[in-house]
Amino acid sequence: MDKKAKNSKFSSRLGYVLAVAGSAVGLGNIWRFPYLAAKYGGGIFLLVYLILTVSFGYVLIVSETALGRMTQKSPIGAFKSFGQGIWYKIGGWINAIIPILIVPYYSVIGGWVIKYFVEYIKGNVNTLAQDNYFNNFISDSFNVEFWFIIFALFAFITILGGVKNGIERSSKIMMPILVVLAIMVVIYSVTRPGAIEGVKYFLIPNFEDFSIMTIVAAMGQMFYSLSIAMGILYTYGSYLEKDVDIEKSTKQVELFDTAIAILAGLMIIPAVFAFSTEAAASLQAGPSLMFITLPKVFASMGAGTIAGILFFLLVFFAALTSAISLLETSVSSLSQQFRISRNKAIFIMAVVMLVFGTTSCLGYGVWDFISIFGMAFLDFYDFLTNSIMMPIAALATCILIIKVVGFQKIIDEIKISSSFKREKMYVFFMRYLTPFFLIIILLSSVASVLGIISM
Ligand code: TRP
Repeated sequence: MDKKAKNSKFSSRLGYVLAVAGSAVGLGNIWRFPYLAAKYGGGIFLLVYLILTVSFGYVLIVSETALGRMTQKSPIGAFKSFGQGIWYKIGGWINAIIPILIVPYYSVIGGWVIKYFVEYIKGNVNTLAQDNYFNNFISDSFNVEFWFIIFALFAFITILGGVKNGIERSSKIMMPILVVLAIMVVIYSVTRPGAIEGVKYFLIPNFEDFSIMTIVAAMGQMFYSLSIAMGILYTYGSYLEKDVDIEKSTKQVELFDTAIAILAGLMIIPAVFAFSTEAAASLQAGPSLMFITLPKVFASMGAGTIAGILFFLLVFFAALTSAISLLETSVSSLSQQFRISRNKAIFIMAVVMLVFGTTSCLGYGVWDFISIFGMAFLDFYDFLTNSIMMPIAALATCILIIKVVGFQKIIDEIKISSSFKREKMYVFFMRYLTPFFLIIILLSSVASVLGIISM
């Protein structure tokens, strides 16, 4: 990130937790988590997700943050500070490249959010709730492209205009409002006739719904939602003062992020059962789930227009802060690595955004005849980053710690400011379970892409 940010280190745990949670809470929690939970077994998905978060998620966050604080560098520099060989380069780069690939399609979804916000402002609460509204919208490629560019412009103008801090400050006000509104919608949603079936589906694990894809999807989601395995936490760690307790702050970030995801699940999944004529089919909707289900909830409410305006505005803010931080990291990796000016790096990112974002937009419309391993462009970018690249990036961090840095140094770093109660668990997980598990995940993802196991 830029020099100014570098000088202002996080000196309090609260400041740090809020900043990390602010970038972690975004479309991942509100849009992505509910559709994956709906698709991959409901309660069993939730259970697997929670287990992964407190085990693998926890040790990976702690590792990345400690490495960042120890080296005072973002991932490429951090890997380099331990050695010069090609493997260190690859390790750093695989972490750094992921945000560059995520931010374009992230902005496409951000565009969908703005579109819905604008339609609610226009008072189209009933139109949005119609069955085919969303599908008609995303197959209208130029319309989708337009809203994607609007969202991307917001992100670019923010980082170019140096108003990033203003946006982040306002998101600190928006976030609590989002939580309150979400709770209200949850209460409304779960009390609709028939919704209780959905509450059960989402909260009670049913082992019959379990498949290897439950784990693959939950693992990808955990990386995505907590912003793990993409260099972000190295960078945040490098801004962290030595007196901030890494163990405690990790716990708080996880708690907050997961709570928001569960709230979003409770808003959306019970509503599928209450409002869809074909609940079973709707559960499989994928990326469109939030956009199909929530408008039905809002349309049935007395104050649906206001709820819709407010909800999509708040989600827009959550998405914008995440997109800004993805973009900022991408820009700083590019400018540091290629020794180019920040403006040149921003220009390169604009081109990357346009190319990858546009393919994502068109992939659901005029280019819907193109499929990559059976996926549309947007789904493919999502799968490639979350299910293939992030396990590799996390593996790179594991190998760096096991083979090069050594556990003692990491433990010393954490113990500067924490009693590190989970030290034994940390070492055991990092040394034995995590690398093994990551390899299994990676192989399963590859197998599913090749059609060897079904998704
Ligand atoms: N975690 C964010 C979300 O849930 C998305 C995200 C992934 C992100 N990587 C990031 C946000 C890096 C900021 C920085 O939506």
